[in-house]
Amino acid sequence: MNNEVVYLNGRFVAPDQASVSVFDRGFLFADSVYEVIPYYRGIGFRLQQHLDRLVHSLRAIRIQANEDWAAILDELVQRNGGGSLSVYLQVSRGSAGYRTHTYDDRMQPTVFACTSPIRDIYGEGADQVQGYHVIVTADLRWHRCDIKSTGLLPNILVLQQAREAGADEALLVRDGLLSEGTSSNLFLVRQGVLYTPKRSSEILGGTTRELILELAAEAGIPYQEVDLRPEELATADEVWISSSTRGVIPVLSIDGEPVADGRKGPLWQKMFALFTCFQHRLMTGEA
Ligand code: PDD
Repeated sequence: MNNEVVYLNGRFVAPDQASVSVFDRGFLFADSVYEVIPYYRGIGFRLQQHLDRLVHSLRAIRIQANEDWAAILDELVQRNGGGSLSVYLQVSRGSAGYRTHTYDDRMQPTVFACTSPIRDIYGEGADQVQGYHVIVTADLRWHRCDIKSTGLLPNILVLQQAREAGADEALLVRDGLLSEGTSSNLFLVRQGVLYTPKRSSEILGGTTRELILELAAEAGIPYQEVDLRPEELATADEVWISSSTRGVIPVLSIDGEPVADGRKGPLWQKMFALFTCFQHRLMTGEA
């Protein structure tokens, strides 16, 4: 029942009924931004935070698109069965009808959204979570990583490098500091304290990252947003990565070396339990 209906510029249609101009700037220049939003049992997880970030990205690249995003996405999810779905939403600057580097503020943006099935991670429980094996490599991206741009070539090439090395994700290093993963944020635990790279234009302000910090504050887990050096990974008690569709994932090895004893750590177990409670509150309308 998934991916039967997509949204394109005001219409809900079958994928083969949706088409975009070859001159669309999203296609030609990656002149577009996006969001990936999980829905569980038809309810958006941190939907408002995703939409706030979308507005930030749109403003940052000066695309003017004011839609009732929540209404569009909720309807799309309902039309696709309303279960556990990941929603992809992309807004490009649109098409001038020919290829040109310069753009016009009056251009009509192209709005596209589709869904794909996701696992209900919190419904399944901590035992079902597979820990990650990661590599560490150079961050080759631009300096506006706070914008969720579809220009993902550096992310894609590095993820492929990780996959070919038998790993699940790559942690990125720029100017001697860890930034984040190719599609995830990074956390490190040392002596009961949670550390994560500071928010800046060098990383994406992850909605899951923000939720982890909120839940840590509520539960009295000390945390610090700091500069992290790759050498610190070797002495970490735990390392996690986070993203919307995967939640919080323990990293079990880095460049082939185990993180601590190479097992899911106790603070991760606690954070996973806090996420599960949060999701329950969301599903029952308490959060
Ligand atoms: N990626 N950092 C990067 C570079 C990302 O692409 C993502 C998300 C995150 C985590 O953000 P959030 O917690 O809001 O999902 C961090 C999405 C899932 C993607 O590209 O598919």
